[in-house]
Amino acid sequence: MPTINVALIGQGFMGRSHSNAWGQVAKFFKSPLVPVMHTVFGQPEENPRMFAANWGWKNASTDWEQLVRSPEIGLVDVVTPNYMHAPVARAAIAAGKPCSCEKPIAGSLSDAREMVNAAKAAKVKTFVWFNYRRCPAVALAYQMVKAGKIGEIRHVRAVYLQDWASESVPLLWRFDKNLAGSGAHGDLNAHIIDMTRFVTGQEITEIAGAIAETFIKERTIPTGVATGGIASGRQGDAAKGKVTVDDTVLFLARFSGGAVASFEAARQATGNQNRNSFELNGTKGSLKFDFERMNELQYYDATLPRAVQGWNTIMCTHGGDHPYVANWWPDAHIIGYEHGFTNQAYDILKVLAGEEPTVPIPDFEDAYQTQRVLEASLISAAERRPVMMEEVK
Ligand SMILES: NC(=O)c1ccc[n+]([C@@H]2O[C@H](COP(=O)([O-])OP(=O)(O)OC[C@H]3O[C@@H](n4cnc5c(N)ncnc54)[C@H](O)[C@@H]3O)[C@@H](O)[C@H]2O)c1
Repeated sequence: MPTINVALIGQGFMGRSHSNAWGQVAKFFKSPLVPVMHTVFGQPEENPRMFAANWGWKNASTDWEQLVRSPEIGLVDVVTPNYMHAPVARAAIAAGKPCSCEKPIAGSLSDAREMVNAAKAAKVKTFVWFNYRRCPAVALAYQMVKAGKIGEIRHVRAVYLQDWASESVPLLWRFDKNLAGSGAHGDLNAHIIDMTRFVTGQEITEIAGAIAETFIKERTIPTGVATGGIASGRQGDAAKGKVTVDDTVLFLARFSGGAVASFEAARQATGNQNRNSFELNGTKGSLKFDFERMNELQYYDATLPRAVQGWNTIMCTHGGDHPYVANWWPDAHIIGYEHGFTNQAYDILKVLAGEEPTVPIPDFEDAYQTQRVLEASLISAAERRPVMMEEVK
């Protein structure tokens, strides 16, 4: 079986989830290309050698520029804070290498545009880790909408709510505009914009209005090394710094097929620990997904006689019928968060081998469309006005 040497740039939360995916994928899937976990990059204080030994990387590096250029590397996988996506991707593309990058594609629209143009000019394959597309329930929703099961979509309702960002969390990169680009917006709305574009097969044409708020305006400067998790387990000292991103962004939008939509991202939505969910209401039926019950898809079939209409819970765990599932466990032996990443690693390898992915996988161009929506809604919030998508190139 042909192999490809992977370099992983970053070793935090996503560094762990991608390491797990690269390590698992060829064990569970008949992959046309087998990934070799060649080298992981981490900052010196993170102890990349220990990370490499723990996760099965052959080598560790503290110099990403040299690593990305190395002729031994076949795929560059970027899991750094958002401001670094563009320089790392640019270097990978300049070296003629395919690049898979965490979401949002970049911290700014101009960085994202530059990444798209560089990839097009160099004709290299690119991927963005919008991993939720690869939950079997979300992939099934995509297939059902495409098959016309819910008819014409009238309403799209999407929320991604978390509650980890209390006052006690220090000023991590996630709260710094220069490093992150935006707050809950780029972190969470990016996912639900991508997921609803994917499932509906439509583009957003207009942002009708938006509101952004930063509730906690200062946070303590972090000390010590991150120990994991979104809040990274770091403590703050007495000194404080300014938060320069949003805690929450809500916006209203219109899709190209005529549906109206609402989106909400929040990091202080108490009690909603990772509520990543959407609901689509169509003329023939409706669908609901909530990541906190990620193995299930709710389906309302309005073509049935009225007497028996109601919400059905589909357990998306049947190997013969549900995307990706046949590669995991017997029916109803449910899967979790990490499986979406392994499913995505499989589809990346398929595309690199010249095959079709299981369901469409976003490249830089596709993720750029999501970034345009992020940008348009920030303009709408700042200027308190509707923004047509043509305005945002
Ligand atoms: N797909 C998802 O569901 C998902 C979930 C979380 C994060 N993300 C994305 O993944 C990326 C990384 O997020 P994370 O949660 O893993 O962050 P993290 O802080 O846990 O890890 C980031 C890693 O990047 C490297 N890094 C950090 N600052 C650096 C610097 N200044 N110079 C060089 N290297 C540096 C370090 O190795 C660090 O471990 C972000 O783009 C984020 O938006 C995606």
